[in-house]
Amino acid sequence: MTTPNYTFTWAEQLSPRLLKSPWWIGHIPFAYELIGRLHPRTIVELGTYSGSSFAAFCQAMQAAGVDGKCYGVDLWEGDIHMGRFDESLFEEVRGYMQREYPMHAVLIRKDFNSAADDFNAGSIDLLHIDGTHTYEAVSNDFNTWLPKMSSRGVVLFHDTNVTVEKAGEAALRFGVRRLFDEVKASYTHFEFDHCWGLGVLLVGSEVSEPVRELIQPDDPATIKAYFAAKGEVVSRQFEALGVELPKHGEYSQSHSNQGETAPWRQRLGRLAESARRLFA
Ligand SMILES: C[S@@+](CC[C@H](N)C(=O)[O-])C[C@H]1O[C@@H](n2cnc3c(N)ncnc32)[C@H](O)[C@@H]1O
Repeated sequence: MTTPNYTFTWAEQLSPRLLKSPWWIGHIPFAYELIGRLHPRTIVELGTYSGSSFAAFCQAMQAAGVDGKCYGVDLWEGDIHMGRFDESLFEEVRGYMQREYPMHAVLIRKDFNSAADDFNAGSIDLLHIDGTHTYEAVSNDFNTWLPKMSSRGVVLFHDTNVTVEKAGEAALRFGVRRLFDEVKASYTHFEFDHCWGLGVLLVGSEVSEPVRELIQPDDPATIKAYFAAKGEVVSRQFEALGVELPKHGEYSQSHSNQGETAPWRQRLGRLAESARRLFA
């Protein structure tokens, strides 16, 4: 699909090979397009969980022929929004990434603050912040990692659009909206509303024309509508695997501390089986 003014080469060319959890997958087409245009040599993700966003980053790097690494940082222990994880989650993610993206994927099993010491100042081209979503945690993640960003650096913030209206009381513990509103005053920025929201912040001073066209667009409404529609297609693919997408109002239940037997975990377990069959 092209629009009268834009051609989205990467978003049109690629489709997800791993859909493990529903909350981020609507942004996969934008991730493809951004990585295809930015050619980031170093990507860092803070919060990899079951690997949906991370696998999309690796897939785009591979498809675009980028000679670089994608680092997924996570303790794979869980947090206040997600509950605690079983050890098998990490083993499954590690096995998949080693098998599918040995040239690009590197998993770092550390706390985000400790992992920051592994990266030089000015070395990261694309940072995805998707760990614990309280204001304090997201501010700490942004401020700790900002000095690591390169002159081409772009930072993505997931969950800028988790509101009380859409997600109930659980949204009160989400501070990404507040942090993004603060930092966007200082940088070129863009934002998607769909799939719980994705904030895009250009923290580097250099921007190529293809990247500028995407995140500082002349026609923001067209960009938003295109990626929301593409994201919806991915969400429908996920749904077709037999797992109901959580509605906005269910976010609180899905992300609260319910332990391993919560219904959403059972649904994701069944999805994992279907996904293994479909995407193997
Ligand atoms: C919302 S999930 C990430 C979702 C993932 N990006 C996806 O595509 O589904 C957040 C993850 O961040 C991890 N996490 C949160 N705070 C952390 C910290 N300070 N250090 C390491 N991992 C952390 C949690 O274990 C969890 O796996």
